[in-house]
Parts: sequence; C-alpha cells; structure tokens
Amino acid sequence: MYTIGIDLGTSAVKLLLMDSGGEILNIASREYPIEFPRPGWSQQNPEDWWSAVLDGVPALLDGFDAAQVRGIGAGGQMHGLVALDENGAVIRPAILWNDGRTQKQVEFLNDTVGRETLSRYTANIAFAGFTAPKLLWMRENEPELFARIRKIMLPKDYINYRLTGVHCTDYSDASGTLLLDVAHKRWSREMLDICGIKEEHLPRLYESWEPVGRLLPDAAAKLGLREDTVVCAGAGDNAAAAVGCGVVGGGCCNISLGTSGTVFITSDSFGVDKQNALHSFVHAGGGFHLMGCILSAASCNKWWQEDILGTGDYQGEEAKIDPKRLGRNDVYYLPYLMGERSPHNDPSARGAFVGLRMDSGRADLTQAVLEGVAFAIRDCVETARAQGVEIHSSRICGGGAKSPLWRTILANVLGIPLELPQTEQGPGYGGAMLAAVACGAYPSVKHCAGTLVKVRGAAYPDAALTAAYEKRYQLWRKLFPALRPVFHEMAEIRGE
Ligand code: XUL
Repeated sequence: MYTIGIDLGTSAVKLLLMDSGGEILNIASREYPIEFPRPGWSQQNPEDWWSAVLDGVPALLDGFDAAQVRGIGAGGQMHGLVALDENGAVIRPAILWNDGRTQKQVEFLNDTVGRETLSRYTANIAFAGFTAPKLLWMRENEPELFARIRKIMLPKDYINYRLTGVHCTDYSDASGTLLLDVAHKRWSREMLDICGIKEEHLPRLYESWEPVGRLLPDAAAKLGLREDTVVCAGAGDNAAAAVGCGVVGGGCCNISLGTSGTVFITSDSFGVDKQNALHSFVHAGGGFHLMGCILSAASCNKWWQEDILGTGDYQGEEAKIDPKRLGRNDVYYLPYLMGERSPHNDPSARGAFVGLRMDSGRADLTQAVLEGVAFAIRDCVETARAQGVEIHSSRICGGGAKSPLWRTILANVLGIPLELPQTEQGPGYGGAMLAAVACGAYPSVKHCAGTLVKVRGAAYPDAALTAAYEKRYQLWRKLFPALRPVFHEMAEIRGE
C-alpha cells in the first residue's frame, strides 16, 4: 500500500510517495508564483496550487503502480484566506500567512476587542497573517467581494475540496484562523460575529488523521488514481512537519527552517502562554502545541544568495565562511524582510545589516544572514523558556536544515542538540503518515510516528562556541528595539 503526502508550501508544492513501511519511493515538486501587489502584501492564486498538484502527481507516480495508492494527506501553508462564492469559484487571490496588510484590523482585534477577550475566545491574540483579520480587511476594503463569500477555507483545504468536493478542515490548521475556540475544539460564535460570517461558511472540523472523503471521479481520472483513494483532513504544515519528524506526544520540540521558521512545542494538554506571544494550537497527532513563528527564515538565505549575490550555489557560498569565524562575526542581520510575527508582532519591521566595516566581506554577510535567522529562532525559544517551558533538545527540518553549517550555528545559538530525522521533508512525510493512519495501516499517529521516524544524526553545541554566541545574541536582541521607531517612521514615509 502507498500513500501520497502533499506539502503545499509558499513557493512550491512538494509531493511524496511513501510505502506503508515508511520508505519514501519518490518525490516531485512543482513551483508556482507568489504575488507581492504592495510592499508587505503577499497572495497566490489557489488555481495555481491545484494545477501544480494535477501536474505533479502523475510525475510522482511515474514508474510506480498507481493502483497501490490508497490514501492522500496534505500539510499546507497556514492561515491563508481562501474564499469561494456560491458556485465554488475562488473570489480573490488567497491572502497568505506572511501578508502584513491587516495591521489596522489586528489593532482593532487586540486593542478594541481586547487581547484577554480574544484569548478567552480562541486561546490566541491577533497577528497580521491570521485569517480573521483578513476577513475584517476584506469586509472593509472589498465589501462586494466579501458579500459573495459562501465558503471559507485554508490553502490545503482547497486541495482537499478539489480532490473530494468536501468542505472540511482539521483542528491544527483551523487553530490559526483565530476563529477556533482551541480549548474546546469548536468554532467560536463570538469570533464569527466579530468577523461578520456564518458558521455555515466555515469548513467542517476533523482530526487530521480522519478520512474526509474519496476522490471525485474527475480528479481521480486526471491524477491517474483510484476513485476509492481515501483523503484525510491533513494538517497545517508545521503540525504535519512535527508528525513527519516524530514530534508527537507531550514535551517534544521541532524547529523548521522553511520559508518561515518555527519552534513547535508539543503538549498533551491545552495551555496558553501568559503573554500570548506564542500561538496555542491543536496538534495533528493528538494533544496541543505552542508555536513561535518567524516570517522569513530560509527565505532570507534564498533572498541573499539568489536575489542579491546572484548565485544558486548555496554550498559554495557557505564554504567561503571560515569555521574559525563562527561566534566572532561583527556583522549582524535582522531577518524581518516581511515584517515579523513572533515575538514582535510588527508588520512594519524590516531587515537590516548592522555593524558593516570597510573590511566586511561577502562571507561575513552570508554568515550574518544564517546567524540572524538563528537569533530570531532563539527569540522564540526564549519566549517559551520565559513561560517555564523547558527545551533541552529539538528535531530540525525544512530546506534550511539541509545545511550542516546552519545546523551547527543554530545548535550553538540555542545551546541544545538538534536531531536530524532521516528526511527533512517534514510536512510531506507527515501528510503521507496521516494518510496511512486514515487508511488503517497504523492505529494512531503516535504509533505511526514511533514506528517510522528515524534520526540520522545530530548537531551538538560546543561550550565555547555557545558562550561566544551568547554574547552576540545579547547584543543582537537590542537591535530591534533600537530600530523599531525607525521602521515605523519608514512605514509612515511609505504612506502605510
Ligand atoms: C505558521 C506560519 C507559517 C506557514 C508557512 O504560523 O504562518 O509557518 O505555515 O507555510
């Protein structure tokens, strides 16, 4: 028996074919464009996601017996607002998780409705990028389009909708809408009233591993799959990645270095961080999790290497960094290219290099980018530690985790070992595992993760290097408060 895992990312869909023993038989990916219609805005066309899936699945199955595929599970970029009209047509491009247009609506929710009230309703406060502020933005700025909304869903739910015709979501992804009462795992009536939407517009809620339906005949024919293929509810990409890395059950941590960077801390029971600086969400494997999210992680490295240096040779660029320079770099980098979510909650934040000198070289700046992202991840870890959460080690996944140098920097900046699972394809592998559970191949997600996920190595911190990075982190963390007023003045000058 095979299952397909779909990782519906921000730059591409990554597809993975897994057998029931957890072996990855094939992977395929298809890119799609992202539109930045104004500084800090980001959107995508849901049709592009679907076309990429339609194009990618036959390539994934090439050379394999498609009849053996029994299940599909997706992990998707979270928080995106996908709105459909009464005919099931997409009303406007999806507004993505890293879109910062909703600052005014976030202020209304956090300051007028109030953080405590929001936290009571949903276990979370508002962040630009969450779905509820986007609905308010649409209601204010595109009232005709807003009035046409009949179905609201998250990005991976759109894929499931096209696969099965079922309007559904799972608790982990629904948690990031700010419409879910996370503690009680039901939609919050109060939040629906605040946003001016009806419960019938929202998807039906499922556990991530629950089957939601089978393939529509047309979808099955186009994909070359059997009509009785089971589609499970799937999960937000971070929850799916945690499953794919074996981070299921209480007291574990997973760090993802993808387009975004996340620190994902599992818990068997529901809990809220007192400052609401971390998200309090349902986990795809059962239980709950706290999560910090930085908006630009591996995307900073991609920007620096591809857009600025004009190279695709990431390894070659990293090889220019003298290992003796680790912990000694005098150039500091702030990674806020799309504003920042955790812990600053500030869409006006921007990136910066600080400390440049005449002798600063290309390698120092490349190193600063890797270090700046690691420091921002440390900010999330410190926020969790301030709540009494103990993090003694973590798994790591995502494109950035492929770099041994970045893993070393991060392990030393955090002062903890980072374990690398056999595959860094976290969300896709997790999606395929959820589908295997949905098909009955495993009794639970925990059992499946415990059986399938293997660790292939770890990056360990070195005491001297950790101490050197500690000094630099303490300096780095003073930069954002110092620059914040400047970033806000810049936003004013831009007329935002
Ligand atoms: C998490 C978040 C990002 C996206 C990336 O809250 O917004 O990690 O899920 O796809």
